[in-house]
Amino acid sequence: MIFKPFLREHFFPLPIAFLSTISADGIRNIAPYGCIMPVLRPLDLVCLASAHKRDTLNNIRSTGEFVVNLAGTDLADKVIPTALHTPPDADEFLLAGLQEKPSQHIRAPGIAGCYGWMECTLYKQYEEPDYVLVMGKVLRLEIADEALTRDGVLDVEKAKPLMMVGGNKGMRYCTVVDLDRSDTFGAMFSDGADPLERLYGPSPA
Ligand SMILES: Cc1cc2nc3c(=O)[nH]c(=O)nc-3n(C[C@H](O)[C@H](O)[C@H](O)COP(=O)(O)O)c2cc1C
Repeated sequence: MIFKPFLREHFFPLPIAFLSTISADGIRNIAPYGCIMPVLRPLDLVCLASAHKRDTLNNIRSTGEFVVNLAGTDLADKVIPTALHTPPDADEFLLAGLQEKPSQHIRAPGIAGCYGWMECTLYKQYEEPDYVLVMGKVLRLEIADEALTRDGVLDVEKAKPLMMVGGNKGMRYCTVVDLDRSDTFGAMFSDGADPLERLYGPSPA
């Protein structure tokens, strides 16, 4: 079947990350964003697409900070409460019944109950009439111990990352299945060696 080009996300599952920010006046805000991705490896950048009319975007621009909160499927019932259009002076942590997880490097708090948190600062913006691409620099990446395997990688069965795929009824929520199969990055190269291997050692505390 051929589909209208704008139906990309009906066939391209997206993560649902909750972005938490604060306004210049200290008002806490949360919004779900599906259009978000890392920018290559081994860079510490994330890129998100935002409509202009977003308190999230205004807050990122005025404070230069945001947290990308990685949520599990148990937070699916917080998507709509945080996506509702509310006045900029409404505290969306209170409205959605979510608790904050204090950040270490920025003022904007994270959201308790998520399995991961990326504290970010605004790096660059690319503006078009209909949207803005916002690039953030990840200052701190924390993953809850309970969401990790003994080897220190994401246990997708435990974390159950919250995702969505478009459908006839709107957004269908879904998650990830581990195929229990992997390849090394080095497998892409003729000599089998990953040129970035040395960067994948233990992280600083
Ligand atoms: C699952 C989901 C994903 C969304 N993804 C985006 C997105 O990537 N970019 C965007 O600008 N809005 C996105 N939205 C819409 C915003 O979350 C929504 O407009 C929200 O009210 C914005 O809140 P704010 O004004 O407090 O920033 C999404 C909404 C949902 C429900």
